Amino acid sequence: MDLENSIEERCSVRHYKDKGVEKEKLVKVLNAGRLSPSSGNIQNWAFVVVDDNEKKKMICDACNQDWMLDAPVFIVILGDEKKAVEYYGERGEKLYTIENCSMAAQNMMLEAVSLGLGSCFVAAFIDEKIIEIINAPSHMRPIGIITLGYPKGNIDKDEKKGRDSLYSKVYFNKYGEKIKDFDMFNYNVLGRTLNRAKKVGNRIKKRIGEKKNSLEKTFFLLVNEKPIIM
Ligand SMILES: Cc1cc2nc3c(=O)[nH]c(=O)nc-3n(C[C@H](O)[C@H](O)[C@H](O)COP(=O)(O)O)c2cc1C
Repeated sequence: MDLENSIEERCSVRHYKDKGVEKEKLVKVLNAGRLSPSSGNIQNWAFVVVDDNEKKKMICDACNQDWMLDAPVFIVILGDEKKAVEYYGERGEKLYTIENCSMAAQNMMLEAVSLGLGSCFVAAFIDEKIIEIINAPSHMRPIGIITLGYPKGNIDKDEKKGRDSLYSKVYFNKYGEKIKDFDMFNYNVLGRTLNRAKKVGNRIKKRIGEKKNSLEKTFFLLVNEKPIIM
C-alpha cells in the first residue's frame, strides 16, 4: 500500500482478530519507528514489545481500558528524558522527548496499515504503573502504547472518524489568514462547492452544445443546405 493510502486508511482500531502478528511484520513496524526523525537525531526512545498475557492484562488495568486486551501485541514507547536533558535541557525533556516518540509512533502506525495491520495509540495511563510493569528505569517516560493486531469488523463504518476541513485549519502567512485560492485544495466545503458548481456549469454548457449541434443537423437536413451556425 502506498503512503497516501496508508494515511487515508489508518484509524484507531479497538477490535482485533484472535490472530498473532507475524515476527517479520512486527520487525517492519519497529523498524519504521527506528527510522523516524528526532531532535538532533538523538533517538531517545525505546520500544518495549509486550505479548505476555499477564503483563498485557496489567497494562490494560494501568490504562483502565479493557478493549486493549483484544490486541495480540502492545508496543510501549518510552522516551529517555535524561538523554534529552543532556542535549537540550528543559525543552528537550518537556517537548522534544514527546515529539520524538510521537514521530516514531506515527511511523509505526502507518507501517502497520501498509502491512494490513491495525493499531491504536493509547496515552491515558498511570506512568508509574507502566514503568513498574515493564521494569523500566524511572528516566524512561512512557509516552504511549501502540496496540497492534489484525483488525476485526468493518473499520470504515465503526471506527473511522471525521476530520475538520482544511479550510478551518490552514492559514497563509499569518494566523487567521484564510485560503484565497480555493481550487488549491479540493478539500474544504467552499472549495468543493465551487468545484461542483464548475462541473455542473460545464455539463450544462456541453448539453447546450449538443442540442445546438443536433438542431443544426436537423435544419441542414430540412433545407439540404450548409448548416447554419446558431
Ligand atoms: C495523544 C493521544 C492519546 C490517545 N489516547 C487514547 C487512549 O488512551 N485510548 C484510546 O482508545 N484512544 C486513544 N487515542 C486515539 C484517539 O482517540 C484517536 O486517534 C482519535 O479519536 C481519532 O481517531 P482515529 O485515530 O480513528 O483517526 C489517542 C490518540 C492520541 C493522539
